[in-house]
Amino acid sequence: MSDIGFIGLGKMGRPILYNILKKYRVSGIYNRTKQKAEEFGALGIKVFEYPFQVSSNCNIIFVIVTDSQASQEIIAGKNGLLSHIIPGTIIIDMSTISLKASIENRTKVMEKSCTYVDCPVIGSVPFAQKGELTALFGGEKKAFETVKPFLETFSKNIFYMGDGGNGLKMKLIHNLLLGENLAALSEALVFGDRLGMNREQVMDILSVSSAGSTVLGIKREPLLKEDFIPSFLLNHEIKDINYALELAKDTRISLPLGGLTSQMYASASSIGYGNLDMSAVIKAFRRINGEK
Ligand SMILES: NC(=O)c1ccc[n+]([C@@H]2O[C@H](COP(=O)([O-])OP(=O)(O)OC[C@H]3O[C@@H](n4cnc5c(N)ncnc54)[C@H](OP(=O)(O)O)[C@@H]3O)[C@@H](O)[C@H]2O)c1
Repeated sequence: MSDIGFIGLGKMGRPILYNILKKYRVSGIYNRTKQKAEEFGALGIKVFEYPFQVSSNCNIIFVIVTDSQASQEIIAGKNGLLSHIIPGTIIIDMSTISLKASIENRTKVMEKSCTYVDCPVIGSVPFAQKGELTALFGGEKKAFETVKPFLETFSKNIFYMGDGGNGLKMKLIHNLLLGENLAALSEALVFGDRLGMNREQVMDILSVSSAGSTVLGIKREPLLKEDFIPSFLLNHEIKDINYALELAKDTRISLPLGGLTSQMYASASSIGYGNLDMSAVIKAFRRINGEK
């Protein structure tokens, strides 16, 4: 029998959990900031004080937190899942973290006779709300069969990627290209602005041309209105490109555009846009052209 636990009720975790709840009972949840869990407590779900209380009571545990450090704290930290875990438990880590951190997590979880799988997701908050994420599962096939019905509650596409780590590798490939696409689009839009072109018309034409892209459609409104309400934080994109660059360095792969792209997001963050949506990278292109 499966007792489901869920950890991390941020922008992504909250809608994902709501989708799981449409079909399954969830036995316990944890969020570092407890207030964010209260709306689920009001639905009768047990809200725990510490991660290890989730692993004391649940044998299928979803985790979606910010970064490598957060994931490692939740799993192997002082009050982490591994300090009291039921043998045979499956931990599904959906956080976008470094491959190195994921391997360390998997090793520690295996030492407790449990299973750790990487299952990062593609798609931002609106996709999570609609249950239309793309899930990238890396890990044992048997665990995949067990977990798949739960993934189906919030995913439109589910890919079995093979060995542990492969889901994360795919996610880093995706976020590298996503960041590069959006930076390239931002550069072109600022070029158009400086030439006195109408930005809306420029975007309309690009969107029906071979220079169009999915990201142009998704980020059209924020880029038109320059209203960067966070869906995917610019600082999170920096984190993900940097994980890709770290992996490339460790594997002696050259990513010249990735390096340059990372610098543009870092510039946007350094002038105060890190906690806005990643589309605020256009501000860095404006700034280097002498605009505000
Ligand atoms: N947003 C997107 O569009 C998107 C899309 C795909 C994948 N992702 C990935 O999904 C993950 C979550 O993203 P998000 O947008 O939901 O982020 P978010 O809104 O910033 O939420 C982050 C979550 O992590 C928790 N957390 C952070 N540091 C922690 C720590 N040291 N110990 C325990 N908990 C900690 C936060 O707890 P508090 O509530 O206490 O802060 C919160 O629950 C990230 O890895 C991100 O890259 C995001």
